[in-house]
Amino acid sequence: MAIDYLRVSVTDRCNLRCIYCYGMQECSFISRSEVLRFEEIERIVRLFGECGIRKVRLTGGEPLVRRNISQLVRKLVAIDDINELTLTTNGVLLDEMAEELKAAGLKRINISVDSAQKGNYRDITGFDLLEKVTQGIHKAIQVGLAPVKINSVILKGVNESQIPALAKLSIHLPVSVRFIEYCPTNRHTRPASDFIPNSQVRKAIEDKFGALSPTVDGDSNGPAVNLRIKNAAGTVGFISGRSSIFCQSCNRLRLTSDGMIKPCLYSSHHYDIKSLIRSGCGDGKIKELMKKILSEKGDFTKLTSSGEEFSMWNIGG
Ligand code: 5AD
Ligand code: SF4
Repeated sequence: MAIDYLRVSVTDRCNLRCIYCYGMQECSFISRSEVLRFEEIERIVRLFGECGIRKVRLTGGEPLVRRNISQLVRKLVAIDDINELTLTTNGVLLDEMAEELKAAGLKRINISVDSAQKGNYRDITGFDLLEKVTQGIHKAIQVGLAPVKINSVILKGVNESQIPALAKLSIHLPVSVRFIEYCPTNRHTRPASDFIPNSQVRKAIEDKFGALSPTVDGDSNGPAVNLRIKNAAGTVGFISGRSSIFCQSCNRLRLTSDGMIKPCLYSSHHYDIKSLIRSGCGDGKIKELMKKILSEKGDFTKLTSSGEEFSMWNIGG
């Protein structure tokens, strides 16, 4: 498997407090001096590009709360080896920022929305901002950050009732609504018993809208299975990271906001690339570490991890 995809968390801060992400944690954010500076991120991405990375996704926390994020987008787009730059956002700031992000060279965007109902959205995220996010979705479509993808995490007893309404967004809008299985992360968030398998989510959609059909232009990039409601403008997708294991086809590395490279979401194993950079190492030495990380990547998988707790807001999903 060619490892050509790097997810870059640009901040651990967020303007929402989703119950399955921050949960009940006392938020003690990483001090700003420990967070990678734009120049450092740019250098890491450039050198990783020389080692084979071709696609980069910016995540958080919430990437749009990082000041001047469009400047970083512009810098990363200019790196020759990187041919796709995308971003995952909660959409809260998208209405005002979609245009400048597009102008900076961002290609596509994923927006996390776990409910289509105002009160339920507030209960999940802590903020009454569904309307603002909806405006953000429309703006992203309008400026051509296409195809716009919507990410939804369904939790038992929390937003199960929203499955049809979320899927329905794909009927009228040219979006891909992807159901991401809940991944329990640590004891401060939601219990593992909140997990609902995607087979059940799919059934709820088919009960309401009829059988889903395969998409012709099946997006083969990544672990999503993409299907379509009859006559829909967009698609529905299923990312079943818990009920199925796709470690063998995992093509990604993660860079945390405080400068650690993680080969696997489920493993606490990490490489401290920030220390190397801040100690004044030359490009050659840094690339040596990158090549080692790339060659060892297969050693760290969900199967070999020992089930440590982790926090999604520092790793970026
Ligand atoms: N399980 C599954 N998905 C999660 N995300 C955040 N926390 C979890 C979790 N515990 C999702 C967000 C976002 C993406 C980056 O990761 O909803 O869409
Ligand atoms: Fe913020 Fe995303 Fe975590 Fe929600 S899931 S609190 S939007 S980082």
